[in-house]
Amino acid sequence: MSKQKQLQVSAIENGTVIDHIPAESLFDVINILGLDQITNLITFGTNLDSDKLGKKAIIKVEGKFFEDNEINKISLVAPHVKLNIIRDYEVVEKRDVEIPDEVVGIVKCFNPKCITNNEVIKTHFKVMDKTDLALKCHYCEKNTTRDELKMN
Ligand code: CTP
Ligand code: ZN
Repeated sequence: MSKQKQLQVSAIENGTVIDHIPAESLFDVINILGLDQITNLITFGTNLDSDKLGKKAIIKVEGKFFEDNEINKISLVAPHVKLNIIRDYEVVEKRDVEIPDEVVGIVKCFNPKCITNNEVIKTHFKVMDKTDLALKCHYCEKNTTRDELKMN
């Protein structure tokens, strides 16, 4: 019998497919995009086989087209994500995510003495290095790197 190619998560009619998410980053992506707060139909799959990632996750959001600044936030945890814009069941556009110049909220400052870890103040970073990731804190001026990255 021939092997059938079948979608593991149903196709959507209109909306956004966020593909090639490293499986371990799925819940960070859900949090960053606030997907727990919206009423759109959302389907996802995780631990799907991927040639590039080993195991990948995919999220499909019906009827939602994200702004660049919204979607670019996920580059911090999932830099190689592919965004597919779907209209009438067709992929009409594929986009990459870009690391932004500034990051507000989302991540914690790694410095335990930083004011943002001791008072109710939103974190604010300038991105100093987009390849290895270094986020300079607006308040304590220390750099948080990829290894130290913790989500808020
Ligand atoms: N997709 C979907 N609903 C549609 C069309 C596509 O959910 N109506 C999903 C597919 O399941 C796939 C993604 O959108 O996960 C991209 O579709 P497509 O470009 O056709 O797939 P690939 O060529 O495999 O994409 P890539 O090379 O980026 O992995
Ligand atoms: Zn700080």
